[in-house]
Amino acid sequence: MAKTVRKLLCLLLIMLMICGTFSGCGQKPADEPAVEAEQTAEVTPEDKEESSDEPVTYTIDNIRDYVVGVEEPMELSDGTMRPLINFDNAATTPPLKPVMDAVDREMNMYGSIGRGFSQKSNHSTDLYNDTREVVLDFVGADPNIYTCFYVNTTTDGLNKLASALVESEDDLVLATRIEHHANDLPWRERCNVIYAEVDEQGRIIYEDIERLLTQNEGKVKYVCVTAASNVTGYVTDVHRVAKMAHEHGAKIIVDGAQIVAHRQFSMKGETPEEDIDFFVFSAHKMYSPYGGGAVIGPWEILNEHMPEFYGGGIVNIVRDYKQSYKYAPDSYEAGSPNYAGVVGLGEAIRVLQEIGFDDIEAHEKVLIHKLVDGLKDMPNIILYGDTDNLEDRVGVVTFNFTDLNSFVLARTLAENFGVATRRGAFCAHPYVWRLMGISDDEAEGFENCVDVNTPGMIRISFGIYNTEEEVDEFLAMLSDAIDAANYSLQFYSQAVPEY
Ligand code: ALA
Repeated sequence: MAKTVRKLLCLLLIMLMICGTFSGCGQKPADEPAVEAEQTAEVTPEDKEESSDEPVTYTIDNIRDYVVGVEEPMELSDGTMRPLINFDNAATTPPLKPVMDAVDREMNMYGSIGRGFSQKSNHSTDLYNDTREVVLDFVGADPNIYTCFYVNTTTDGLNKLASALVESEDDLVLATRIEHHANDLPWRERCNVIYAEVDEQGRIIYEDIERLLTQNEGKVKYVCVTAASNVTGYVTDVHRVAKMAHEHGAKIIVDGAQIVAHRQFSMKGETPEEDIDFFVFSAHKMYSPYGGGAVIGPWEILNEHMPEFYGGGIVNIVRDYKQSYKYAPDSYEAGSPNYAGVVGLGEAIRVLQEIGFDDIEAHEKVLIHKLVDGLKDMPNIILYGDTDNLEDRVGVVTFNFTDLNSFVLARTLAENFGVATRRGAFCAHPYVWRLMGISDDEAEGFENCVDVNTPGMIRISFGIYNTEEEVDEFLAMLSDAIDAANYSLQFYSQAVPEY
């Protein structure tokens, strides 16, 4: 009898436990508000990551959820708050959450790089050096031929390269008129530079490179060219340039700042003559804001030179009046390295590769076509570069209105409408003056201009997280922004319409 009672009690207990595992059992029907609230509660990417150990697979469709700050409300001139439409990604990119997470995680194990014996020091040193392989792999560089040294930015890298490679002010370098100042001035300040021209649409004239190489047969030491323009987004056929350079005894140096977050890049050409010798890029343009970047170059050449940048970490022995230096890459990295920059760079590469450059390129194409098609319909617009064939352009579009000051419009777009663009000559003055039809003599007159009167363009540059909706929203607000800019023009005493 007692056994039967125990059995019944047990059964009752089991039934109660089963009941309790289903929410609302015996309390509320499933469609009551409490359940509804649970179903509609917003799940943020942070919640997703915290509540699950499942690693996220990043794709072009979900990456916006993992870009930090895109939804951060900003105050507009009328006091309203809204997140910016950030169309200024060629200048710098916002951080990726996985990049910040990786840096935070690694800070627990941070120790001195190449200078200590602790577990942390060993861990950091290994990760720091292993990331070189990640970088080399990212650009298809054979580690038997190439090494990479870390830099702060592309500008820093090109300056270091120039200070190492230029041996005399009689050296001859060939650059192009499309270059960012970072791939022009470091050479210009140290030696002779000749420039290949751009055509009416702003594309590099490859025949001009060949002509200059032939005219200066055997004298050009380095051909310096950008992989993608920060003004028009044109992608250079750098392997074609490499072949020309090598046939005339020169090496090629490629500024990769504007390509690395947009297209798959490989140092390898179809034949060895087409291989790139040096490639330089920054991490902050690929969603890692900690500084950092890299120069990839051949062991052999790097070991024949050293930058004019001295300090700890690069020496074998220093005596009273004599010193001997290590080999590359150490000899190019004086001082304590930027570890966070290197960790961020490695993770940014991983995430971009996971998303895949085919998808990144396809997404950017949709955005640039939509934007250019919309802008073409605007009265009085000037669009720079070839807008009929966009195939050789990354997501960069520059424009002006014939009857409107671009400084005032860009400011109005940001302050009144929450759209971040860049306005100016984008550290590529000779190129921008050419596109705007301004002669070199005319440009001399801009020396003492205040900002608002210096000629310039408005630039929209896309990142992986921008959306078609943002482009639509921008196009829909543009006429109102022009009206508002025209109205506010009266408050700029020195403003004049430009181009
Ligand atoms: N070079 C960067 C730009 O084009 C800063 O905006």
